[in-house]
This record gives sequence, structure tokens and C-alpha cells, in this order.
Amino acid sequence: MSIAEIFDKIDYGPAPESSETALQWIAARKGKFDHFINGDWVKPSSKKWFESRNPATGKPLAKIAAGNAKDIEAAVSAARAAQKGWTNIGGPARARYLYALARALQRNSRLLAVLETLDNGKPVRETRDIDIPLVARHFYHHAGWAQLQDQEFAEFEPIGVIGQIIPWNFPLLMLAWKIAPAIAAGNTVILKPAEYTSLTALCFAEICKDVGLPDGVVNIVTGDGATGEALVKHPDIDKIAFTGSTEVGRLIRAATAGSGKHLTLELGGKSPFIVFEDADLDSAVEGVVDAIWFNQGQVCCAGSRLLLQEGIAEKMIAKLRQRMETLRIGDPLDKSIDMGAIVDPAQLAIITKLVKKGENEGSVWQPKCDMPKDGSFYPPTLISDVAPAATVAQEEIFGPVIVSMTFRTPDEAVAIANNTRYGLAASVWSENINLALDIAPKLDCGVVWVNSTNQFDAACGFGGNRESGYGREGGHEGMMEVLKPKFLSKLPLYKELKSPTPQEDESNASLANLDRTPKLYIGGKQARPDSGYSMPVFSAKGEKIGEVGEGNRKDIRNAVEAARKATGWTKASSHNRAQVLYYLAENLDIRKSELADRLKVLTGVSTKKAQAEVDATIQRLFSYGAWTDKYESAVHSPPMRGVTLAMKEPIGTMGIVCPDDNPLLSMVSLAAPALAMGNRIVLIASERHPLTATDFYQVLETSDMPAGAMNIITGPRDSLAKTLAEHDDVKSVWYFGPTDGSRLVEAASIGNMKRTWVNNGKARDWFDIAQGEGREFLRQATQIKNIWIPYGE
Ligand code: NAI
Repeated sequence: MSIAEIFDKIDYGPAPESSETALQWIAARKGKFDHFINGDWVKPSSKKWFESRNPATGKPLAKIAAGNAKDIEAAVSAARAAQKGWTNIGGPARARYLYALARALQRNSRLLAVLETLDNGKPVRETRDIDIPLVARHFYHHAGWAQLQDQEFAEFEPIGVIGQIIPWNFPLLMLAWKIAPAIAAGNTVILKPAEYTSLTALCFAEICKDVGLPDGVVNIVTGDGATGEALVKHPDIDKIAFTGSTEVGRLIRAATAGSGKHLTLELGGKSPFIVFEDADLDSAVEGVVDAIWFNQGQVCCAGSRLLLQEGIAEKMIAKLRQRMETLRIGDPLDKSIDMGAIVDPAQLAIITKLVKKGENEGSVWQPKCDMPKDGSFYPPTLISDVAPAATVAQEEIFGPVIVSMTFRTPDEAVAIANNTRYGLAASVWSENINLALDIAPKLDCGVVWVNSTNQFDAACGFGGNRESGYGREGGHEGMMEVLKPKFLSKLPLYKELKSPTPQEDESNASLANLDRTPKLYIGGKQARPDSGYSMPVFSAKGEKIGEVGEGNRKDIRNAVEAARKATGWTKASSHNRAQVLYYLAENLDIRKSELADRLKVLTGVSTKKAQAEVDATIQRLFSYGAWTDKYESAVHSPPMRGVTLAMKEPIGTMGIVCPDDNPLLSMVSLAAPALAMGNRIVLIASERHPLTATDFYQVLETSDMPAGAMNIITGPRDSLAKTLAEHDDVKSVWYFGPTDGSRLVEAASIGNMKRTWVNNGKARDWFDIAQGEGREFLRQATQIKNIWIPYGE
């Protein structure tokens, strides 16, 4: 037999990891676990426990407390009581605790790896080499942020008490992603693990106790969806951070709308894995193995859609099938297997059903592999020749199943890649780095891996766009999700300006102004409102001083369409955008006294105050002209040979709903940062003082702003805001009006899971630069895409 033949025939012997220590750990606790609340083990008030099973054998592992609203209440009040003290000990003291947690996690790494494998079914090779080391890395990294908090986040404070709900696919890693940044920043938490996989979270609770973490900082309440729902609905929670299905994410958005709770969602995905003709195909095949068979494909960012350039499609599929024949499925505690068990028979049933559907949508292929007799296992599966719109190409299967399709040109690859409601991750394979870096910014998702896949690091943000959710976890951007500006909790309530009672005798009114009804401003043109109606505008004294168009649903549609087409503004260089904003400022300056007079009449302020508002508005435009090329991206150096570019990108089409106070300044304070970052906007003017907006578009018309970049609609604010928030082509809505509007916008946003930024019925001081200008606005006007680029041959 030749050496080549020996290599061909060679097989692996078993390399089992002992489960003894982990099973002893469970047995020492009598196989029954309570909640961890206020530093103590607390029996569930339901007096009920549910079973957690080993998916590889189907046998029970332990009994887990079933949490209910009463347990959540106890945990929230413990977290609330601990929060001030935890903040007040300061960043460096918190850093010590996080550092101690990281060390303790490393000391217990083998126990945690085995426990995770027993509970989840994933190969111990993965828990040992990927999950647990990343968990420790997360605590180390965030110990660092706590240490530097006073310097790096001086103007921020912790959000408060955070409810965290995590899924079963990376139980301890998701715990780390949630808990490490939150407690580093001075928040306290209540974490609810997924019902299938609670054990490592409970082991982590013991570690918290061992390192002497103050009581109440970390609370763990176990249970199912109903327990999660009780946490979401608790009134004394300041933020919910959720990772899981888009369906539940939507329920959580609806349940928290208008509550003032901060929300971040890390949801599903259907991420493309794009292979160009010049890719190193053997590497790409290994990439596919990591993309879709890592953790049995139960990965939110799994590369589950294989997009192959036509010229290499056949060759790649052949190579892939050959590689699939060698994948080993079996006992996840065996270190020489590639794929372990599916988390639960229920998940196995979902996968099986979707693949069945795939039989009618493409050609289903599975290798002949030895499958274990017991437990929940599913073979690696390739469904080729699938149409981009097929169910299996659109639905998240969340199992070891990849679908393949072909493309001809780079543009077609981008179009197919983006043809999904999700936007979490993408993988691009090409030996031409220019091509890969040209494609990466065009992909509508939060993470792009060039010639690599499923890379994660605590210093690099992770999170999605569109129905994959919003918010980022990890790095600086992750810290920003657990902090809030200090001024926020001191803001006064927004005072709604009621329209004055019209004066009976209108003879004094400035009738000269009545001869003209300013129209809407859509696609760079003045447009009559679709309704054919107009609304009266009153001065501060109650005189009718004009009319404006009454915008409706159709006008919003037209404005969104115009904004969607105005891609030139997004593609323009920041230098170009700066020039337009400076020019706009100059043109406002020319009409300074006219604008101040208008403000006086509309709002009833003194000449001095009106002039101050116009001056501040001009300054604001100059500031954002300055910011266009100064709010820059970052380059991370994760622990690998490569770099990660954290690109700040515009969001796309945004809706902006303006308040009534300081109508000129507030409108420009909201519009300018969005425009500076390259977004196209549909702006709903102040309902009470719309003439400031219609005056403003006359300035826009003379300022080189491309048609459609800024569209202005006047009319009933809240119903227009709702329409904007429901529109699927709008990616984000900012709302700064009266209280109920915030709820309305958040509730209406669930269609395409758009980002929202609302004032929760609070009023800002638009003159104050801290409240009215700068990085907070720019952060809300951008989304960060992390592009991973490895080095080397
Ligand atoms: P899920 O979204 O139902 O569960 C995630 C977490 O949310 C669990 O802790 C669960 O107890 C909790 N939860 C469930 N209903 C809730 C509610 N109404 N309010 C608050 N919390 C609630 O995911 P599930 O059922 O485990 O898996 C179903 C599908 O979701 C999978 O087939 C997969 O497609 C997707 N999924 C996606 C994940 C991701 O990371 N993108 C993770 C897990 C599942």
C-alpha cells in the first residue's frame, strides 16, 4: 500500500473526553438547580422544575427551576438595590471583579467546556477551543473598558438594570457577550438563559459567588419563553438585550414600545457565502465547513447561502461533496468528530421539515455517513440549484443545511446576497483583495469576513441590519449600548404646544402671507399634497398667518421613493457633502433676518432670541460640515493575523420627525447629522410651526443639495410618523415629538425591524451643544460594519 493510499484509508480512533467531572458537578448539586438571585440560590416560587436533557443521548441531565413573574420581581429588585453601589465603586474596582471572573473562567475552562457539550450537544473541540476561550477573552477585554471608563466615557453613565435573554446555541458565550459589557459599565443584570441550556449559566453564577461579586449585580433566573416575557414586561427594567429568533425579537419590540426601555436585538440571519471564480477553492471548501457545519449550523451568522460564480460552480460543488463525505458525526464528547447533536428534538423537527420542503425547491444531497442511533442528529446537507426566492433560500433553517445558487457578475452576487430580509453577516472569497473590498461595503449586513468566516473577538462589534436586529455587541460600539449620556435622566418633559384659539377678528392677520400655500418638498421639487387639503398655520398670538399642505400616506410614499433613488448623496465623498452643508449654512446666513422675523411671529420669542436661534442653526450646519470627514472608522487588531475594519456606514433612507420647540434649530440639529453621514431623509416638519421647514427648502433649492436627499412633508405629525415607521424602505426613524408618538413609532417599526431613536416624551435643550449636537447624533445616523481581513498567503 502506498503512503497516499494509507492517507486515503486512514481513519480516526475514538478520542473521548471524560464527562465524569461535569457529571459529578451536577450530582453534587443533587441534579437540581434553583435561581441565582441576590447572590443566593432561591427556589422557584412556582415550586416547579423542568428537565434539561443531553441532546446526544436524549437522557435527562438535570432539573432546572421554572421561573415566573414573582421570581423575576425578586431578581429585578435585587438588581435595582445593587445598582447604585455597583456604579459607585468606580470603574477600576469593577475592572478587578471582571478580571477575577476572567481568571476563574479560565481555571474552570475544562469543566465549562464539557458541561456545555453535555447540555447543548456541540462538539467538545468547539467548546474547548472556541466558546470558552472567547468567554474568558470577553471578560478580560471588558475589564479593560471598566478600567478606562472615566477617561473614555466621561460623559456617560450606566443605563441601570438590564434584562438579558439569550438563546441556546452559544449558551456561555452569549452570557459573556451580554454580562461582561453590562457589568463593566456599572449596570446590574438579570439574565435568562435558554430553557435547553441553563447549566453553564448556573455554573457561572457559582463563579460569581466564588470571586465575591457583590450580591445582586448578576442574577440568573431560568425558565422558558414565559419567564422571558415576564422579564421583558417588568416595569423597573431600563433595557432589554435579546439574542434569538426574529419572531421573538418582534414580540419584544412590540411589548417594550413606548416604555422608555432601551432595546438591542441580535436576531436571525441567512448569510451569504460568496465564492468568486478566482478564489482558492480548497480554502473556500474549508470555509464552508466552518460556515455551516460549525455548531451543526445552529449559528445566527452561519453562511447558509452558498453563492457560486458560474465558472467554478460545478467544480466547487464536486469538491464540497467530496469533503462532506469525510465529515464525522457522532458523540460530541469525542474530540475527533466534526459535528455533534442538534440541541433538541424540536429543533431537529424544524430542520427536517424545511429540508423536506427543499426537495421540491432544489436538489438535496447528503453524504453517506454513519449516524448515531440515539439522540438528535442531522447529517450535513447541501441543497443545490435553488432559486434565490425559494423558501429554503429565504428562511433561517438553523441546522447543518446549506443551499447553493449561482451568479455571473459581482453586481449580481451583491443583488442575490442582499435579497433577504436579514442582514447579519457575509463571507466573500476571492484572491483579488480589490474585488473583495469593493463588494464588502455593498453588502447590507453588519459583519463581512473576507476569505474567512465565523471570526469573533471581544474588541470587534457584532450585530446586524434589517431583520437581523440592531445594536452591536463587543468593542467600543458594544459599550455604547450599555451606557447613556448623563444629561438624559435630567431632561424635562416635552411640553406639547397646543394650537392657539384663532382670533375672531382676523383683520389684523398678516394677510400678505396668505396668498401663498407652501407645498411639500419631494425629490427636489415643490409638490402639491396628494390630499388636496391644506392646514392653517397660526402665529404665537393666534393669528392665522398662512397655510401649509396636509401631507398624507401617499406623500410619504413618494418622498421615500425619492429618497431611495437619491443614492448619489450616499455615494458622494464626505468632502462633497461637507461643501453642500457649508453652502447651506452660508445661504441661511444671507436670509438671517428674514428667518429671525419668521421665528418671532411663529413662536412669539424676542428678536434677540429669534436671532440667537438662527445663529445657532447656522453654527450647527457648519459643525456638521466639519464632522462629515471627521467621524471616522476604526481599525481593530483582533488576536489573529489580520485586521478588522469597523466601517461607519450611512443607514440609508431615514425618517426624521421634528419637535415644535425651537423649530428651526431643532429641525437642522436632526437633519444635518443624518445628511452629513450620507443618509437620505424624509423629514416631517414641526406640526405647530411648519413654515420654518417650508422656508428652509427654499434655501435648500439654492444650495446644491441633490434632489431627493432631503424631502420635507408638512401635516399631522403623529399619523405621518406612524406611516414612516411602517414603511419597509425606511431603515430608521427618529422621533422627537410628544410622548405618545414615541410609542407609536416604536410599535410601528416591527415590520422590517427598523432602528428607532425616540425622545420618550422628553425635551432637549437644542442650544446646548452636549444635548443638541455631536457624536450621539452621528452614532444614531450610522451603522458599523466590521470587515475582517486576514493577512498572509
Ligand atoms: P427563541 O427566540 O424562541 O428563544 C430565544 C430566547 O428567548 C430563549 O431564552 C427563550 O426562552 C426566550 N423567549 C422565547 N419567547 C419569548 C418571549 N415571548 N419573550 C421573551 N423571551 C422569550 O428561539 P428558539 O425557539 O429557541 O428557536 C427557534 C428558532 O429561532 C430557531 O429555529 C432559529 O431559527 C432561531 N434562533 C435564532 C437564534 C439566533 O441567534 N439568531 C438563536 C436561537 C434561535
